[in-house]
Amino acid sequence: MTNITTVILAAGNSTRFKANKSKLLYPLCGLPIISHIYNVAKKISGKNIIVICNNKNINQLKLILKDCTFVIQKQQKGTANAIEQVKNKINTKNLLILFGDTPLVEIASIKKLIKNFIKSKVKASLIAFRTLNPFGYGRLIVRDNDLKEIIEEINLKSYQKKINLCNSGILISNTKILFDNLKNIKVNKIKKEKYLPDIFKIFYNNNISTNFIECSENEMLGINTIEDFNNVQSILQKKYIKKFIQNGVNFLNPETCYLSYDTKIEPTVILESNITIKDKTIIKKGSIIKSNSYLEGVVVNENCKIGPGARIRPNSIIGQNSKVGNFVEIKNSKIGKKVSISHLSYVGDTDVGNNVNIGAGTVTCNYDGNKKHKTIIKDDVFIGSNTSLIAPIIIQKKSKIAAGSVITKNIPKNSLAIERSELKILRNKRTK
Ligand code: UD1
Ligand code: CA
Repeated sequence: MTNITTVILAAGNSTRFKANKSKLLYPLCGLPIISHIYNVAKKISGKNIIVICNNKNINQLKLILKDCTFVIQKQQKGTANAIEQVKNKINTKNLLILFGDTPLVEIASIKKLIKNFIKSKVKASLIAFRTLNPFGYGRLIVRDNDLKEIIEEINLKSYQKKINLCNSGILISNTKILFDNLKNIKVNKIKKEKYLPDIFKIFYNNNISTNFIECSENEMLGINTIEDFNNVQSILQKKYIKKFIQNGVNFLNPETCYLSYDTKIEPTVILESNITIKDKTIIKKGSIIKSNSYLEGVVVNENCKIGPGARIRPNSIIGQNSKVGNFVEIKNSKIGKKVSISHLSYVGDTDVGNNVNIGAGTVTCNYDGNKKHKTIIKDDVFIGSNTSLIAPIIIQKKSKIAAGSVITKNIPKNSLAIERSELKILRNKRTK
């Protein structure tokens, strides 16, 4: 939509979040809080986005938000003051305002707002929501269906505190009319800030037509505190998991699993309890992820058995029909098809071929204290239990390594390597 500029407010101090950086940078299901709403904004107005930030978060925001304009609000004098910073910077007829700290908003709701705004020919329109716990939100005062004003929590009279129709912060307005009236917003006496929602009282008093639509609370929640963050994150997790379940993924204990915004799981996959999945992980059909497993940046191909208690770290691919069992750690490794790494092993910076068995307690010794080195294990190799493979090293096809060996040289194909000192049995001569 080319006649809309989206402005995202992101200059707040995150005081209530009690963190040492802007709350908007915190990963929510793997994606910075602000990126969630930013992705919605992109779909509405393309590159026509202005992010209002502050001197402290601008550099980090520039790293994560591309194709938009940044404007700095030097002092955090409130949401109306933030909008004042973009006066004369907007050349579209209408202006959409989003808050960086409301990440659950769906594109459909913004489209609904825009449609209503255009159809009803009002000069400004807002998204409101109802909640049983309205504390902290601006409340809508409505008379004869007209939005009379929005009162912030600290200014509410005690009888108004139970009003549960809240301001989401999301609004669309005619650009010129907004800026013509913005200058009339007064500084709030208690907080010494200028509040953007005060514009609606000014509109009402000047007979400028406005209206609002209502959307679901689950989409409009804002993140001010860590408690809000946890609440929003659990709503988002439930949303992701519900979508997978509807698509044929079987979670045995969905409440205990954590997914990332970019997780992909194919139908027929089973996930047991307490599973964490992060960073662009893909799990293909027929696989089972057993309890207490932790996967980040992993592709698990078809029909694999992972866990219980497996840890697979970034840049790893597990081939079809392979098994990665309990207390196995895999990092930056490509594992072939029908490979079994069933117990207590560390496989790092390694390429493993097909039909390989890696016995319990095998360790690829990939780090010499200075550099990381690669291990290559070719097809049909058998590695006995408790083997140390000192990288860089290649174990050629169909070779066997005897249990307990420390392998320091490349092993040619079809051979058996044993590295053990001779067993001595010394009898105690004092006992018969
Ligand atoms: C705001 C609204 C409230 C609404 C709620 C919805 C105001 C005064 N209140 O309250 O009516 O119900 O959101 O979640 O607008 N920001 C700036 N510059 C500033 C202050 C804030 O850019 O000087 C940004 C923040 O980074 C944030 C957004 O504006 O992204 C909202 O500010 P916040 O302080 O969180 O407002 P709330 O108290 O949540
Ligand atoms: Ca907020």
